[in-house]
Amino acid sequence: MYFWPFFRIIAFFTFSYRIPPIHAFASNYTQKCRCFPGEPCWPKESEWAAFNQSINGRLIATNPIGHVCHGDTYDAQQCAHLRASWNDPKTHYTTSSSIMAPYFANQSCDPFTSISARCGIGTYIQYAVNATGASDYQKAIRFAQRYNLRLVIRNTGHDYLGKSTGAGALGIWTHNMKSIEVLQYNSSSYTGKAIKLGAGVQSLEAFKEAHQHGLLTVGGNCPTVGIAGGYTQGGGIGPLTSMHGLGVEQALEWEVVTASGELLKVSQIEHEDLFWALNGGGGGTYGAILSLTVKAYEDVPMAGANLTFTREGVSQDAFFKVVEKFHECLPALADAGAVAIWTLTNTSFVLAPVTASRMSKEEVDGFLKPTFDELRENGMNYTYFSKLFPSYFDNYNALNPPPETSYFQMGGRFMPRSVVASRNAEMTHAMREIVGYGAGIGGLSFKALTLNQSRSSLNPLWQDALVSVAVGIVWDNTNWDLNLANQGLMTHTLIPTLDKLTPNASSVYLNEADFREPDWQQVFYGSSYEGLLRIKRKYDPNGLFYGRTAVGSEVWTEQTDGRLCHV
Ligand SMILES: Cc1cc2nc3c(=O)[nH]c(=O)nc-3n(C[C@H](O)[C@H](O)[C@H](O)COP(=O)(O)OP(=O)(O)OC[C@H]3O[C@@H](n4cnc5c(N)ncnc54)[C@H](O)[C@@H]3O)c2cc1C
Ligand SMILES: *[C@@H]1O[C@H](CO)[C@@H](O)[C@H](O)[C@H]1NC(C)=O
Ligand SMILES: *[C@@H]1O[C@H](CO)[C@@H](O)[C@H](O)[C@H]1NC(C)=O
Ligand SMILES: *[C@@H]1O[C@H](CO)[C@@H](O)[C@H](O)[C@H]1NC(C)=O
Ligand SMILES: *[C@@H]1O[C@H](CO)[C@@H](O)[C@H](O)[C@H]1NC(C)=O
Ligand SMILES: *[C@@H]1O[C@H](CO)[C@@H](O)[C@H](O)[C@H]1NC(C)=O
Ligand SMILES: *[C@@H]1O[C@H](CO)[C@@H](O)[C@H](O)[C@H]1NC(C)=O
Ligand SMILES: *[C@@H]1O[C@H](CO)[C@@H](O)[C@H](O)[C@H]1NC(C)=O
Ligand SMILES: *[C@@H]1O[C@H](CO)[C@@H](O)[C@H](O)[C@H]1NC(C)=O
Ligand SMILES: *[C@@H]1O[C@H](CO)[C@@H](O)[C@H](O)[C@H]1NC(C)=O
Ligand SMILES: *[C@@H]1O[C@H](CO)[C@@H](O)[C@H](O)[C@H]1NC(C)=O
Repeated sequence: MYFWPFFRIIAFFTFSYRIPPIHAFASNYTQKCRCFPGEPCWPKESEWAAFNQSINGRLIATNPIGHVCHGDTYDAQQCAHLRASWNDPKTHYTTSSSIMAPYFANQSCDPFTSISARCGIGTYIQYAVNATGASDYQKAIRFAQRYNLRLVIRNTGHDYLGKSTGAGALGIWTHNMKSIEVLQYNSSSYTGKAIKLGAGVQSLEAFKEAHQHGLLTVGGNCPTVGIAGGYTQGGGIGPLTSMHGLGVEQALEWEVVTASGELLKVSQIEHEDLFWALNGGGGGTYGAILSLTVKAYEDVPMAGANLTFTREGVSQDAFFKVVEKFHECLPALADAGAVAIWTLTNTSFVLAPVTASRMSKEEVDGFLKPTFDELRENGMNYTYFSKLFPSYFDNYNALNPPPETSYFQMGGRFMPRSVVASRNAEMTHAMREIVGYGAGIGGLSFKALTLNQSRSSLNPLWQDALVSVAVGIVWDNTNWDLNLANQGLMTHTLIPTLDKLTPNASSVYLNEADFREPDWQQVFYGSSYEGLLRIKRKYDPNGLFYGRTAVGSEVWTEQTDGRLCHV
């Protein structure tokens, strides 16, 4: 396999916008870099202790979970167990510091390195506030500002772009804020059922509570992704996208603590600019969310299906001909209200699941018929299952594959409807090329979106998309250099292969994207970027909330030791 040499490590800091110089800092942020552990500016033990006391003892000093695999704390049995459960999201989201995207852990305390390999805090956050409410958020924000600390907000640690960790950072950990309240919501724009979700609520928890009230609500096909953080703020796709739209389209009201420490209620009628930014402008950027109130809908019977086949016994051409036929089915399937989610590799195809609201089982089967015909024509074996379930919840539980972490390095692109409909052969060929390098492709197809651009800041190119394509390269737990080489392959070869299909108009779901994307402002945020940057500067003038590829992050750089500094 050919790999592009890995030489453009800082490529993702290049940008095409003219960012006015940062000036007029009123606080300790005049310093070039955030305070780093070991420096004289770093809070003394007694100061951490006083802070801890002020938050009722809820401060957690990071002890990386990989410590059971190293040095004096090595424990063969616990280490084996940790390795075996490393790809289970729960291993990470139940902790105050661990993250799922391995690159950003930087082997700081890696369970797959040798016993004698280093185990330190490294790129994990130094401390976490196990938050319970606004007061904890406010105290953490004040403490970070007072000592010029890097601040990170984390819920589940799912983020593929490393936005939920940071070297030398204090974290606000939202995972335990699990309140869920079903309510009747009345406003000028929406009257109906709604659910108020605490910042720590994960998709399946919201689905379960909604189901108990005969309702459904929008969330990820991944059951453990949090709703109020990166998911909704970045867009939010899932099994119901064709039926009820994206996560951001559900948002009625946010409770937010801003960088100034104010607790704001943000909606279409209060702080409308911040409402616009939170609805699609990316997680961890504008403020710390305490709760999100979203629309809820009556639960309904829902059909679903899954399909698998492999390349076994047939030519590469025949295999990809079937894939092309499948792509041909997508526009009609999406228009009729279904979401299809699939993965493709060089040797296999797994469609799991199709979620088809307002359709019978037979209708779903019908939409996929051209794929079955092609499979039969080639004498290929396949497994297919379809059924009408009494509710979304039953459908979801039966058809969603068990969740796994991001053991992939990630990149992606939207495929516009026009490309799928009229350049399918070319698109399928591009995907064949990509999986030929050993990468995998994940697709999620959905009905055309019409975004209200005065209430959502999402990249308007979402509206042209039929498929959100994710390209993943499996992470190698033992070969760091190979992983770095694969980043180069992603950025310089695989993603450009898809770009040929969308000249000058490439866009991607910012949560499932390459963190080294050279033109991320344009490709992630599109024409919303400048407006978002204005709102970022208004609510967070000193850049307290930083994340890689987050709006406004181009004025920062992470040095090789992890220190966060102004460029
Ligand atoms: C295995 C897997 C499956 C996925 N499946 C889906 C899917 O089905 N649909 C989909 O749309 N996406 C999916 N994603 C992508 C997912 O939406 C993003 O990873 C998202 O960032 C996760 O949000 P989180 O808050 O749970 O994660 P975290 O990693 O905890 O946080 C992500 C970002 O949100 C910020 N954030 C978190 N909480 C808050 C808060 N309270 N206030 C302000 N900022 C906050 C963080 O600072 C960070 O920038 C998946 C990712 C993985 C790894
Ligand atoms: C800057 O930090 C010092 C402590 O290091 C603190 O006493 C001072 O109040 C801070 N200044 C501001 C403006 O926050
Ligand atoms: C914070 O205080 C609690 C209760 O006193 C204690 O258990 C915890 O270890 C402290 N955290 C830190 C980082 O010292
Ligand atoms: C965090 O706080 C919750 C209660 O809100 C508690 O149940 C949990 O044990 C705490 N976690 C840690 C690691 O201290
Ligand atoms: C909301 O509206 C419904 C009907 O329009 C009404 O019955 C209900 O009392 C209202 N609730 C609130 C909290 O205003
Ligand atoms: C399909 O499965 C049957 C039974 O397992 C097997 O004999 C046959 O070779 C398979 N066909 C292909 C094309 O793999
Ligand atoms: C398809 O769904 C059925 C029913 O839940 C399940 O038994 C089967 O394992 C699923 N297949 C795939 C590939 O997910
Ligand atoms: C993909 O399949 C083709 C055809 O069999 C083969 O030449 C190529 O090496 C495979 N690529 C990978 C990464 O397995
Ligand atoms: C779009 O949002 C704006 C502002 O929130 C609102 O006033 C308007 O009615 C919405 N338009 C539509 C078509 O829903
Ligand atoms: C893309 O941009 C280039 C350079 O700006 C231009 O020459 C080309 O015509 C554009 N292509 C399309 C399809 O718009
Ligand atoms: C990552 O690890 C390397 C050593 O492998 C070290 O030189 C570097 O400083 C670390 N980066 C961060 C950000 O901690």
